[in-house]
Amino acid sequence: MNLSEAKNKILELRELLDKHNFKYYVLSKPEINDFEYDTLMTELVYLEAQFPGLQDKNSPTQRVGNDINQEFSQIIHKFPMLSLGNTYNEQDIRDFDTRIQKTIEIPYQYVCELKYDGASISLSYKNGKLMHAVTRGDGEKGDDVTQNVKTIKSIPLNLQGSNFPESFEIRGEIFIPHKGFDEMNKLRNEAGEEEFKNPRNTASGSLKTQNSSEVAKRPLDCYLYYLLSDNLPSNSHYYNLQECKKWGFKIPEHIEKYKTIDQVVEFVNYWETERYKLPYDIDGIVIKVDSVSQQDELGFTAKSPRWAISYKFKAEQALTKLLTVEYQVGRTGAITPVANLEPVQLAGTTVKRASLHNADQIELLDIREGDYVYIEKGGEIIPKIVALDTEKRDSTITKLNFIENCPECNTKLVRVEGEAKHYCPNEKNCFPQIKGKIEHFVSRKAMNIDSIGEETIDLLLSNNLITNIADLYALTKEDILPLDRMAEKSANNIISSIAKSKEQPFERILFGLGIRHIGGTVAKNLAKTFKTIEALKKASFDELIETDEIGKKIANSLFDYFSDNDNIGILEQFKKYNLKLEVVEKEIKSNKLNGLLIIASGKLSNFSREEIKQVIEENGGKAVSAISSKTSFLLAGENIGPNKLKKAIDLGISVISEDDFLRMIE
Ligand code: IVH
Repeated sequence: MNLSEAKNKILELRELLDKHNFKYYVLSKPEINDFEYDTLMTELVYLEAQFPGLQDKNSPTQRVGNDINQEFSQIIHKFPMLSLGNTYNEQDIRDFDTRIQKTIEIPYQYVCELKYDGASISLSYKNGKLMHAVTRGDGEKGDDVTQNVKTIKSIPLNLQGSNFPESFEIRGEIFIPHKGFDEMNKLRNEAGEEEFKNPRNTASGSLKTQNSSEVAKRPLDCYLYYLLSDNLPSNSHYYNLQECKKWGFKIPEHIEKYKTIDQVVEFVNYWETERYKLPYDIDGIVIKVDSVSQQDELGFTAKSPRWAISYKFKAEQALTKLLTVEYQVGRTGAITPVANLEPVQLAGTTVKRASLHNADQIELLDIREGDYVYIEKGGEIIPKIVALDTEKRDSTITKLNFIENCPECNTKLVRVEGEAKHYCPNEKNCFPQIKGKIEHFVSRKAMNIDSIGEETIDLLLSNNLITNIADLYALTKEDILPLDRMAEKSANNIISSIAKSKEQPFERILFGLGIRHIGGTVAKNLAKTFKTIEALKKASFDELIETDEIGKKIANSLFDYFSDNDNIGILEQFKKYNLKLEVVEKEIKSNKLNGLLIIASGKLSNFSREEIKQVIEENGGKAVSAISSKTSFLLAGENIGPNKLKKAIDLGISVISEDDFLRMIE
C-alpha cells in the first residue's frame, strides 16, 4: 500500500470507528459486534504503525491511553468555571423564581436537568477536534487531563456534521454508572485489590490518575450540559444542547423545558424518589433560565450564575427500630458493636444492620435497644445511625451498657489509653481471634493459600487438626480427607497450595503473622530494613522507630509479639518448614541486561511467563508489565497484541524477537 492509499484507508477507518463508537457509547444502539469493531481497530492500529507520518492525536486508537506517567499542566479557563447556588426546599426554589422575575421581562422559560454526581470537566474543541479537557481546579484554572479524558468513549474526539462553531467549550460531568462500578469492584476484589468506596470519588480520582492506560480501564462516562461559545447556534440553552447531540455529544437524557415554577417544583418532587431507579448517582436537580440573552441579563455573582440554581436532595434517611446491639470480635480482638434493625428500605436496598463504631458513639447518642433510630447511607457499604427519635422512646427502656466481657470467651475487655476500641485480650483462646488470624494468614495479600476458605478453617479447627497458623504446614492429605464434604481433588489442592505458599517472600509472612498495626506497607518496610526475622527480633526500640512509617505504636506491638513464647514457637515451626524468614536476594547469573527494563509480550517458545521474568532478572534486567517511555525494549513473541506493538512503535522503543533475546543473554 502506498502512502496515499494508506491515508485514504486510515481516514475511512477512523470515521467508521468514530461512528460505531458513537452508536455504542452515546446512543446505546450498536450496529456491529465487538469482534467486527476490534477487527477495524486492529487494521487501523496496524496501518498507523506502518505509516507513522499519518498518526493523529485524535485517532480512535488513542483511546487506549498509555503508561507514561504524566504531569498535569494547568490551563486557564477562558470562561471561569463557577459553581451553583444551592437550595434545599420548595420555598428556596420559589424565592429563586421571584428574584428572576425582578430582573427580566416575561416570558421566560426554565430548563430542568438532573444534577450528576461526579467530577466536572471543561472540553474545548477547535474545528471539530477535541483540543483540551480541563478539570475545574479553583474555577480560574484547572489541570489539563486531556490524555485521560480521551479514554472516555462517550466523549467525541472528532465531531460529526459541520455546523458546529469553529471554536467552543462544552462543560459536563464525568461519572461512573452503578453497573460499571460494581463490576470494577468485583474484579478488584478478585485481584486482591482494595475496592473503591463510591463512584464520585473514583471518577474524580480517575481524572487525576497519572497513567492513562489505567484510566482506560475505568468505566467512566460523561454527560455534557453547558455549551459556551462566542457563536452559539441559538439563543436557547435547550436547543443548543439538542444541536450538541447532533455533533456527537451525550447530553442529559432527562431534560425538560417549563414555563412555570410549579412545573419545576413538580419535576423536582418527581426525581426526589425516582432517582433511585437511575443507573447512576445524582445529588439534585439543576434549574436554568433557557434564554441565553436573559442569562446574560441576569449575569453572575462572584461565585455563581444568577440564572441557574441547584436543588440538593437530602441524603435519604430511614427511621426504624433498633432491636438489639450485638458485638463482633475481629481477628485482633477489636470489638465492634453492630445494630440489628427492623428491616427497612433505604436508597433502593433493604437494611437490617447498621454500624455503631464504638462505645463513645453509643454514649454520645445515648442509643438504647428498642430506640427508633435514623439511618443514613454514607460512602460506606453498611449504613450508619445518625440520630434518634427520642419522642418515640418507650419510657421503660434502659440505658445501654457497653459489654465488659468478651461475647465469645467471656474475658474482661480492655481499652488502651487513647484508642476508641475495646479489645478482648485473650488472643490465644478466643475462637474468632484464632480463626481470624488463620483467615488473615491464608488471605490473598498474605500467603495466598487460595484453596482454604472460611469453611475449611472452621472444619480444621473444630476437628483439632490445627490450633495456629504453623500447624497448617504439618497437615497431610490423610488428615483432611475424612473431613465433611472433602474430596480427593480438593484435599490435593489444599496440600499443594500450602506447600506452594512456602515460596512467599518474607514480607508476606511478616504481614500474615497478623501482628497488630502491621499492614502490608509496614511489613514491606520492615523486611527491607531488617532483612531477617532474627534481626527484627533483636531490633531496639530506637532502631524500629527510625524505620519508614514505623512509630511507637508499631514498635510496642512488635515487642509484645516477640516477647510471647507461643509466637516464638510459631516462628521456630516456620523455620523447620522452610518458610522464608529472610529476604532472598535474587541470584544474579550475568549483568548482560543490567539496568534494562524489558517487557515480554505474546507467546514465547522457550519460556513460560514466569521463566522469562526469572531469566531477565537473573541477568540483571527488570521485567515490567506495561510499556512506558522508560522501557528499554519489547520482546515480542507470537500473536503479540497490536496495541502493545503500536505503543512501542509510538514511543520509539525497539522491538526484538526471541532469537535476538537469546543471543543477548548467551
Ligand atoms: S450547570 C455555571 N448542569 O454541579 C453553571 N451543572 O454546583 C454551570 N453539575 O460545577 C453548571 N449536573 O459540576 C450544571 N446538569 C448540570 C449539572 C451540573 C451536575 C455540577 C457541576 C457544577 C456543580 C454546581
